[in-house]
Amino acid sequence: MNEDKVRLSFLGLGYVGLTTAACFASRGFRVLCFDVDKFKVEVVRSGKVPFFEPGLEELVKASVERGTLKALEDSREAILGSDITFITVGTPAKEDGSIDLTYVKEASKIIGEALHDKDGWHLVVVKSTVVPTTTEKVVGRTVEKCSGKLAGKDFGLCANPEFLREGNAVEDTFKPDRIVIGESDRRSGDMLEELYRKFYGENIPPIVRTTLVNAELIKYANNAFLATKISFMNMIANLCQKLPGADVEAIADGIGLDKRIGPLFLKAGIGWGGSCFPKDLKALINFSQKMEVDLPIIEATLKVNETQPYKIVELAKELVGGLENKRISVLGLSFKPETDDMRYAVSIKVVNRLLEEGAKVIAYDPKAVHNARKIFGETIEYANSVEECLKGSECALIVTEWSAFKSLKPEDFIRLMKIPAVVDGRRIYAPEVYSKKLRFKAIGLGERKYYNPALAVNAIISKDNSILLVKRSVEPFKGLWSLPGGFVEYDETVEDSITREVKEETGLSVEPVKVVGVYSQPTRSPAKHAVTVCYLCNILGGELKTSDENIEVKFFSVECLPRQLAFDHLKIIEDYLKCK
Ligand code: UGA
Repeated sequence: MNEDKVRLSFLGLGYVGLTTAACFASRGFRVLCFDVDKFKVEVVRSGKVPFFEPGLEELVKASVERGTLKALEDSREAILGSDITFITVGTPAKEDGSIDLTYVKEASKIIGEALHDKDGWHLVVVKSTVVPTTTEKVVGRTVEKCSGKLAGKDFGLCANPEFLREGNAVEDTFKPDRIVIGESDRRSGDMLEELYRKFYGENIPPIVRTTLVNAELIKYANNAFLATKISFMNMIANLCQKLPGADVEAIADGIGLDKRIGPLFLKAGIGWGGSCFPKDLKALINFSQKMEVDLPIIEATLKVNETQPYKIVELAKELVGGLENKRISVLGLSFKPETDDMRYAVSIKVVNRLLEEGAKVIAYDPKAVHNARKIFGETIEYANSVEECLKGSECALIVTEWSAFKSLKPEDFIRLMKIPAVVDGRRIYAPEVYSKKLRFKAIGLGERKYYNPALAVNAIISKDNSILLVKRSVEPFKGLWSLPGGFVEYDETVEDSITREVKEETGLSVEPVKVVGVYSQPTRSPAKHAVTVCYLCNILGGELKTSDENIEVKFFSVECLPRQLAFDHLKIIEDYLKCK
């Protein structure tokens, strides 16, 4: 087989079809492509791409200009002008979750009718994701019926599933982990393997040659396993969130180093979406049910994912209270970064739940707004930039991990928002940085601090060289050391915390602070107004002052402070210092 002679055709110009076609064309293969959607054909013909995919437009443009990639409105011309036809049409889910093979059947019919008039042998390759037996029983038989020819004799049949990811499609095509070739007969498999050998040259990835059903099932098992890995971590994340000191990121690092588990696809978040995982898992379950086989692990994987998007809304409510009439910023709408694809994007559930809660939603996405508008219409506001999205907002939710959001600093949120409060649904921010500067919660992040809700600073008194923090308690003091704001972080000692917080928040140099004691003075209503006095001083050399006449205590009228107002206590300290 000579690459100058082998000609390829692609039926279906979605992510898989157009990316594979353009990659082959970019390496000199002659590629004809077709789509029933005339708009797509027109766009590709003009050297453009009908959706956003990094790096693809350059390849399409160059190949169209070079004449190696041609988009045709006539499918017959494409098929008869080629030696191998790839079926790359969509296989969406029907209402009941079963696979919708309408486009696959249509493509098979078109191929059969064209092959009816072809003398030579032709290879038909199913690249679309199809449930086991489809290649043989639907594609093969339809082509046989419409062409009057026999599979394995007059034409060849392969199932060649695709593993590229949206947003990484070009790179994944040039550097796949493996190529899976399911074949109806040896000649078909040989021809496809030969094509890939020519395409990859020395960098040929491992090739798996197998039966048609195995190839079809490999694709489903692959996606189901990946989705299960993510749902598994999301399940662990939900546990971490309730467990002070726990962090799912640390768990992922810890288990990812086990070679039997591996580090990829362990990123917890607010669930997976996209055009593949949701429909493929449902199709596999539906297919198996027809065969009277249960797939409980895959059902659980879907179940975890059903409710995961709502976790970010729950966290937002914990952070800022009820959402009614609050301006909430949604950062990211596409189902993952580097794509404008909104299919099964978790943002849909997040935004709808926010609207149900009465929030005023303003959203920003670098690429997906035009697609999001088709879903949300005018029920939400669309910002043109991150800044516009955050301005005046009372809580920001990270829904998709675009790099533009990763580079934001706590100061950006503080500068722009009415109340700087961030819920990180994709774990893009370092909690140790964010949680110290603004109200912050993240998926899979347990309380980072011991919080004694009673121990809230409501005054700071500095006298001579000593610092006195006055706190009041609504609970009996439990022997838990406290910080300004009532926090002790898990990864530091009490002394370190106090030194750091006092210095960071007030600018006072108290290094090295030594906690010398706690003085607790219940007031008339011990349950609500007990006062805990923590006397910090390195100069006092361990001496605990408990006598009121040595200190000037100034009380601020701060009512029993709810948990989420902890950061306001630091303001009180600052205000006090300013008036001194
Ligand atoms: C997925 C597979 O990864 C591809 O191998 C496959 O070819 C493709 O489906 C398909 O069947 O066509 P894709 O849906 O494009 O690719 O995107 P992924 O990168 O797999 O992400 C899917 C979802 O999982 C996204 O919502 C993403 O945010 C989420 N995800 C991914 C996580 O939440 N955590 C992770 O660790 C990884």
